[in-house]
Amino acid sequence: MKYFIVTFGCQMNVHDSEKIAGILENLGYKCGQNREEADIIVFNTCAIREGAEDRVFGNVGALKKQKKINPNLIIVVCGCMTQKASTAQYMKETFPFVDIVIGTHNVPNLASYIMKVKAKQQKRMLELWEEGEIDESLPYSRSSGDNAWVNIMQGCNNFCTYCIVPYVRGREKSREKENILNEIKQLVLTGKYKKITLLGQNVNSYGKDLSPSVSFAKLLKDICAIEGDFTISFMTSHPKDLTDEVIETIAVEDKIEKYIHLPAQSGDNRILHLMNRKYTRETYLEIIRKIRERVPNCRITSDFIVGFPTESEEEFLHTMSLVEEVRFDSIFAFMYSPRENTVAAKMDGQITEEVKNERVNKLLALNKKIQMEDGKK
Ligand code: SAH
Ligand code: SF4
Ligand code: F3S
Repeated sequence: MKYFIVTFGCQMNVHDSEKIAGILENLGYKCGQNREEADIIVFNTCAIREGAEDRVFGNVGALKKQKKINPNLIIVVCGCMTQKASTAQYMKETFPFVDIVIGTHNVPNLASYIMKVKAKQQKRMLELWEEGEIDESLPYSRSSGDNAWVNIMQGCNNFCTYCIVPYVRGREKSREKENILNEIKQLVLTGKYKKITLLGQNVNSYGKDLSPSVSFAKLLKDICAIEGDFTISFMTSHPKDLTDEVIETIAVEDKIEKYIHLPAQSGDNRILHLMNRKYTRETYLEIIRKIRERVPNCRITSDFIVGFPTESEEEFLHTMSLVEEVRFDSIFAFMYSPRENTVAAKMDGQITEEVKNERVNKLLALNKKIQMEDGKK
């Protein structure tokens, strides 16, 4: 029996797929090479932009034929996209050959859902749990070579007005520091992992919800104190929570990679405010200045959204000038995509696709030019 997992979206989803792989291997499945030979296919979906969702629909739709040829094939759709009740329902109705539709919080129960479908006790199911406690017990089947992803927290509390993540991943919950340290000790002991990448939507707010609270800097220092030959990196940092202590820790700890992904999203203060990002262009630039002063060789990358509702040409040019001023090692630039139930999706002044397209191309061209000039590509 073989499984095949198709993962969309961010590193957290990639890591969740390692969890799903662990569950399937516990059930006796082996990792298959492609979907054609699989007995169970899992789509771990992403909802961040409309394009991500369209790709999922396309991929799932294409399985209809395969299910006809092999009626015992089990198809599972899970992840951020199906955590939205309306999309989950649509998925179930539109693709009657999909067996299991579940949300982000149901993964711990995946084995029992599969058993039920296999035993034909339940033909098809749609289960959407509300968020629960962090599950510490699940096995992982890691597949990222000498890099090991380690979740330090789940969810997000920030409600940036364009973003769906808080709705589909729930509120911020940090793992206990001891559990994280133990996991990393075990990983390092295997000798297989040379790189530990800490994951969270906003790693800099790690530990605020623990009692007693623990700072992200303290977590980093404790990880660095683990003996062994390995490096540490982390993502994603939110500028509003990146403390001087974290910058100092990056500067002094040899194990920490001199790299920081620090999404700015926009270079314009009115748009940043509308996005609910809670920093200004000036405070962002001040953080960059501090990083460069304390960690001179630090690579810095960023994310930007163009065409946020009401963004004027002049405001877009402020994003261009920020990119020019910082000269990032690289950036990701996205066209704003309205997401169900988010504040920005309901705003007046939505920008046309044509203008968004123009702006994203300009921004990417600028990034390329800077990379060439600075010899970064
Ligand atoms: N937690 C991280 C990023 C999560 S999503 C952070 O706060 O930075 C990754 C990136 O997708 C974001 O940085 C943003 O640039 C982009 N993104 C999120 N929602 C989007 C939307 N509705 N339209 C376009 N891009 C979006
Ligand atoms: Fe989304 Fe903002 Fe949370 Fe990042 S910090 S996941 S952009 S709401
Ligand atoms: Fe996508 Fe969910 Fe990650 S929406 S970007 S897979 S947290």
